[in-house]
Amino acid sequence: MLEFKEVTKQFEGNDYPSVHKLNLKIERGEFVVFIGPSGCGKTTTMKMINRLIEPSSGEILVDGVNVLKQNAVQLRRSIGYVIQQIGLMPHMTVGENISLVGSLLKWNKEKQQKRAKELISLVDLPEEYLNRYPHELSGGQQQRIGVLRALAVNPPLILMDEPFGALDPITRDSLQEEFKKLQREMDKTIVFVTHDMDEAIKLADKIVIMNKGEIVQAGTPDDILRHPANEFVEDFIGKDRLLESRPEVTRVEQIMNPNPITIEEESSLKEAIQKMHAKRVDSLLVVDESGILKGYVDIEMIDSNYKKKNQVYEVMDTAKYAVDKNSLLRDTMYRMLRSGSSYVPVVTDNNKLAGIVTRATLADMVYNTIWGDETAEGSAIE
Ligand SMILES: Nc1ncnc2c1ncn2[C@@H]1O[C@H](COP(=O)(O)OP(=O)(O)OP(=O)(O)O)[C@@H](O)[C@H]1O
Ligand SMILES: [Mg+2]
Repeated sequence: MLEFKEVTKQFEGNDYPSVHKLNLKIERGEFVVFIGPSGCGKTTTMKMINRLIEPSSGEILVDGVNVLKQNAVQLRRSIGYVIQQIGLMPHMTVGENISLVGSLLKWNKEKQQKRAKELISLVDLPEEYLNRYPHELSGGQQQRIGVLRALAVNPPLILMDEPFGALDPITRDSLQEEFKKLQREMDKTIVFVTHDMDEAIKLADKIVIMNKGEIVQAGTPDDILRHPANEFVEDFIGKDRLLESRPEVTRVEQIMNPNPITIEEESSLKEAIQKMHAKRVDSLLVVDESGILKGYVDIEMIDSNYKKKNQVYEVMDTAKYAVDKNSLLRDTMYRMLRSGSSYVPVVTDNNKLAGIVTRATLADMVYNTIWGDETAEGSAIE
């Protein structure tokens, strides 16, 4: 799909090349994340793909063809591009922004509008937003539109330069989830640049770590976390002994408790209270009759609504963040510890509740790591 062969970029007047003899192959459908310190050459590498910057030497092949042999304008329009500052046109409506490349490619109005509607529904924004102007949207919504614009003409290859960098952590989290899902469904090849290792671990099939214009290590997130190539990579990812010592545990599914305490959304508040009391918990996960996660309810929500409301779905909070059962354990651990949440529900692809990871689960894991499984199973240590 995409191949770098000995690619070097030397800007005039610089002492060192910004990119030096870079070799890399990217397969179709792969999600590749470039990461490295500021100035290491990430943006330069990305811009050489669509010829916003031309290499000084070496070759970049897209589907086997050297990009320098292609018409630069056509090449640029055939590759999706999301820049860091979102870059929506302020005087154009959201719909016009999404259709920008389509209109450059002379798609007829109907086709453009149809596509814009399709796309906006993908990110759960109402169709009316197509007629709004960018300044009438929140930062997170604008960022979504920036991503949609890159998808508009359905390019197989999309370049994204720190697309979520400017967002607050919660919006970033949900956009990452959303985007990863989209990418799986649409089978796009993505080249993505970030500063944020958590983001790289979460999104990437392959992580490419750069330093001073060169690739230091390229591999799957697991590879890199378990076998950092050198000290630079170790420092960059931060050592994690916990995971090193339990190499067989990588996915949330392996440590989750598969029997979380739940309540159906149609249940009464009284039933919820009884269940909390019986199970000695202060919060319940809410599911529908087929086991789909709907939200959560805690003792305070019930307490403050007991006189006014009757059923769980009337008082529950739908915002509880969940992780996929195939998520990397490392990612989930980081997030739980950082956000201070005491638990996170685990779901399957279609949001069916599969289990729960609690702080107690993590504590068990640390305990097992330090003392070994036998002791955890009950032999005496004092
Ligand atoms: N047009 C240019 N002319 C001269 N030097 C440049 C130019 N663009 C980039 N450079 C230099 O090339 C090096 C790599 O820059 P690049 O923008 O690729 O870094 P980056 O990894 O994207 O950094 P950041 O994380 O800060 O965005 C830097 O030293 C930068 O100063
Ligand atoms: Mg950059």
